Amino acid sequence: MAPKLAYLGLGNMGQAMCKNLVQKGNLSSPLVLYNRTAKRANELSDRVGNCIVSSSITNAVADADIIFSCLTDDNAVLETFTEILKHDVKGKLFVSCSTTQPETSDKLASLVEAQDAGLVTMPVFGEPSMAEKGLLTCVPAGRADLVVKVLPYCTGVIGRAVIDFSDQPHSKASLLKVIGNVFIINMIETVAEGLVLAEKAELGKENLHKFIEVIFPGPHALYSKRMITGDYYTRDEPAVAIDMARHLAEEVSGLASASGAKLPAYEVARKHLDMVKDYAGAKGDVSGIYGALRLLGGLAFENQN
Ligand SMILES: NC(=O)c1ccc[n+]([C@@H]2O[C@H](COP(=O)([O-])OP(=O)(O)OC[C@H]3O[C@@H](n4cnc5c(N)ncnc54)[C@H](OP(=O)(O)O)[C@@H]3O)[C@@H](O)[C@H]2O)c1
Repeated sequence: MAPKLAYLGLGNMGQAMCKNLVQKGNLSSPLVLYNRTAKRANELSDRVGNCIVSSSITNAVADADIIFSCLTDDNAVLETFTEILKHDVKGKLFVSCSTTQPETSDKLASLVEAQDAGLVTMPVFGEPSMAEKGLLTCVPAGRADLVVKVLPYCTGVIGRAVIDFSDQPHSKASLLKVIGNVFIINMIETVAEGLVLAEKAELGKENLHKFIEVIFPGPHALYSKRMITGDYYTRDEPAVAIDMARHLAEEVSGLASASGAKLPAYEVARKHLDMVKDYAGAKGDVSGIYGALRLLGGLAFENQN
């Protein structure tokens, strides 16, 4: 019989993944939803259909065989699993899509396995608009016989590709996610620096955007668009919250100093994340690095005035 699925944590990423699971996951029964703030679960269920909103996390887990989760950070993950693991979870498979520190992923695996359940750690690459389109890159790690049960929900459903770490420690997937952040933040910094230079040197940001679209399609073009359209400061809710970005950046820098690596370019970009927080507060978005560079170049943070 096809497994029953539940999803815990319906923030920007969780909601998008749920939509794709419902629409493309070939589910045999409604997707069970749980979110700490119930309103989000009810709204998502109304929007996508074929869901059941659970009133408690315990019921959501009890009603499913495979339980996906996507929560803010390590504390949220450990708090949530402490609650879940108070109850019988024997034989269940948990799929943790949250970004967690490598050691937290291994700790979580031990806690789950001690209860005769399984864990696949599966951080994802791609921001919410990519998640919405089902274009995430999934990095599953854990026992191969468990990963294989998760793969049907990856490529073509929530994602466009899998970097398969089957039979590797859970921490390896999280480590890749942390190191991947160096590429993402440095890419955002590069795009933002180029756009500011294009404006100051009178090439025009639209002309540079054309170049980026042709030569660097993918993330560079996506972020360039978010910058030139003003999306980096006009959204009601940030696409990638500055607090989350700074928290992850701190972990990256911690990993670098613990392992003896130097990340000079990344540390420069980190300072610009701090400027975004100072300027925009908690509503700041990671692509606000562009606004920070505009300020440094004597322009207004906002580009649409
Ligand atoms: N945004 C991105 O671009 C992106 C890309 C790749 C990976 N990720 C990773 O995906 C994860 C989620 O990101 P997101 O953008 O979806 O974040 P988000 O929109 O802020 O959503 C966070 C979710 O976690 C829940 N939560 C937070 N603390 C909790 C707690 N103590 N107990 C129970 N639930 C709690 C929130 O519930 P409430 O609704 O009740 O607050 C919400 O459902 C993070 O680990 C992030 O690093 C994000």
